[in-house]
Parts: sequence; C-alpha cells; structure tokens
Amino acid sequence: MDIAIIGASGYAGGDLIRLLLAHQRVRLVCATSRKLAGNAVSSIHPQVKGLLDMEFSNPKPEDLEADVAFLAVPHTAAMTYARPLLSRGIKVVDLSADYRLPRDIFEKVYGVAHTDYFKAPYGIPELHRDSYRNAEFVSNPGCFPTGATLAAAPLARYAHTVIYDSKTGVSGAGDNPSATTHYPNVGDNVNAYKWTSHRHLAEMKQELASLGSSAKCYFTPHLVPVNRGILTTAHILLDKPLGQEEVEEIYRKFYEKEFFVRLQNPVLAAVRGTNFCDIRVESEGERVVAVSAIDNLGKGASGQAIQNMNLICGFDEREGLTGAGLLP
Ligand SMILES: NC(=O)c1ccc[n+]([C@@H]2O[C@H](COP(=O)([O-])OP(=O)(O)OC[C@H]3O[C@@H](n4cnc5c(N)ncnc54)[C@H](OP(=O)(O)O)[C@@H]3O)[C@@H](O)[C@H]2O)c1
Repeated sequence: MDIAIIGASGYAGGDLIRLLLAHQRVRLVCATSRKLAGNAVSSIHPQVKGLLDMEFSNPKPEDLEADVAFLAVPHTAAMTYARPLLSRGIKVVDLSADYRLPRDIFEKVYGVAHTDYFKAPYGIPELHRDSYRNAEFVSNPGCFPTGATLAAAPLARYAHTVIYDSKTGVSGAGDNPSATTHYPNVGDNVNAYKWTSHRHLAEMKQELASLGSSAKCYFTPHLVPVNRGILTTAHILLDKPLGQEEVEEIYRKFYEKEFFVRLQNPVLAAVRGTNFCDIRVESEGERVVAVSAIDNLGKGASGQAIQNMNLICGFDEREGLTGAGLLP
C-alpha cells in the first residue's frame, strides 16, 4: 500500500514515519510540509536519517496519489483534505479533531464553523472496531480521551460519576513552541491547565455514553516535564460497591483479547514509543481507581492511527506496532 502523510513535519507525522518504517505492508510515497517542501525529511526528523531518503512536498489534494493518507494536521486543516482525498479513492485516517464529534458539538467546543462535515467512526479499535472494519475514513481519537476512556470503559455502565486526572508530556502540544512549553516553565515544574474546560472532555463524555453509561464526567489535565506520555488516574464512583477481585475480573474479561491493553502497573517509560495502554485498577468499594499509561504520540496518536489503518485495510492490527517500550 502506498502511504501519504499530510503534516509529516510535525510530532505526530514524525512518529508515523518512524513506525511505518517497521511496517511490512506499506511504503511511504508522500510526506507533506508547506514550510519544508523540497527539504529532506531527515532535516527535521534526524531519527530517520539513513532509513528514509525522501523530501517533503506540498501537493494539492487533487494531485495526491496514494492508497491511504494520514491527516496529521491541526484541526480545521483536516476538513479541507478529507473529502478531496476520499473522492480520489484514498482511505483516510484523520488524527485531528475535525470529525471526532457531532457537528454542533465540534463547533461549540472548538469555536469554529465546520466547512465540510460528515459523520465518521470514532477509532478506538478496542471499543468500536466492528463498526468500522471496512471504513474509508476513520477519525482517530484525542490522546487524553484514549487513555482515559480505556481506563474507565470496563466499569462505565456501573458508574454514576467518572473523574479523570491526567498528566501529560510536552509533545502533546505539537512542535510549535509557546510560553507554556518553554523549557524554564516546564522543566522542574508541574501545572494544571484548563482545569474544567479542556476540549477533550467532550470526547470523553461521548465515549462514556457510547458504552451505555449515563455517568457524569469531569477532567483536569496537568503538564509534567517529560517529552512523551499520558498517565491518567480515573476515579470511578460506582452505583453499588464492587470488591477488588470482582473489579479485576471485570477488567480481565473486558480486555482479555486485546493485544494493546496490558493489565499491569502503568508507568510512562514502559509504553514510551509504543501503541500499548497499561492499566491497573484498585477498588475501595464505591470508588475504583483505574490508572492508565499511554504514549500520547503512540496509542494517543500515530500508533493508534496505524492500528486503525491496519484495521480498515484488512491487515493484522499489530503489524508495525510490536516494538517494546523504551524503559528506562
Ligand atoms: N501531539 C500529540 O500528542 C497529538 C496527539 C493526538 C492527536 N494529535 C493531533 O494530530 C495533529 C498533528 O499534531 P502534531 O502535534 O503533530 O502537530 P504539529 O507538531 O504542530 O505538526 C503539524 C503539522 O501539520 C502541518 N500543517 C499545519 N497547518 C497546516 C495546514 N493548514 N495545511 C497543511 N498542513 C499543515 C505542519 O507543517 P507545515 O506547517 O510546514 O505545513 C506540520 O507538519 C493535530 O490535529 C493534533 O491535535 C496530536
């Protein structure tokens, strides 16, 4: 399969390139960047020097030739690419937020008009794969909603309230520097941000509802001084108490066939660079604490996007994604 990455110079694009180099069924034919067109991909991604001899380009969507395209561009940019690519018979995995929510909620949460809306499957394969196996387009979920939802999903229908408290690495903000991501503000420091208003809350609520839960949902993110990773502590408040053994059994059964969800003590370094989500759960009766660890650029973005590509192309979901984490 021939692959194009739109937005290949960014962090998610860089990780797509890194992971696709180890994929046996695909070859990269196009890596776009408006600013770096004509420059070697390795000029901004030195990690692939010697492994990929390619320059960035900036083709119009209607000139693009590929079987699958990843949209690793900011929200509102993806909506200008999606339909032109689909109309050329190119399957699309969109890493942006443009098709994750119903139009009215997207426009309210992101404060912009959607100029080319259509309904798309929300791509957490562990929860929804049967509904989009043969899809032409998949909306890849946000990084926080992926780790948070996988942590709470097995207990969603037993809960009346779910509170997510997440710690994220700095690469979640993309490669565009800002005061928030400036080293002296991040290094040796921890901050809460968007305490009650982070955009990903809408996806988290949507996912709980999709699992048959009417639980109230809250979310506060924190920025921690690491490059990659999201550790989410989900406080799951139950209608009726459940003991430790019952809760562990619920999680074991829920994820028993899932290669990318590992029930073990979650630490960021063990999932760094991977598509794994590690989860451990502890009950104190009416409150269950489930902690998950993912790489925001792995299961939170590019890893899951490749898992979704594998799914919609009929490949083994694990293809290209079986590397172990970078611990220590
Ligand atoms: N970083 C994460 O952990 C993470 C996790 C989950 C989802 N995502 C989502 O994935 C997408 C990419 O994130 P990122 O962190 O990789 O961002 P990034 O580092 O800022 O990279 C953005 C990429 O998109 C290109 N681009 C920007 N505006 C464009 C436009 N209007 N048209 C075409 N290309 C454009 C940029 O290159 P040029 O400007 O040179 O064209 C660059 O290659 C975003 O939607 C983000 O929300 C990111």
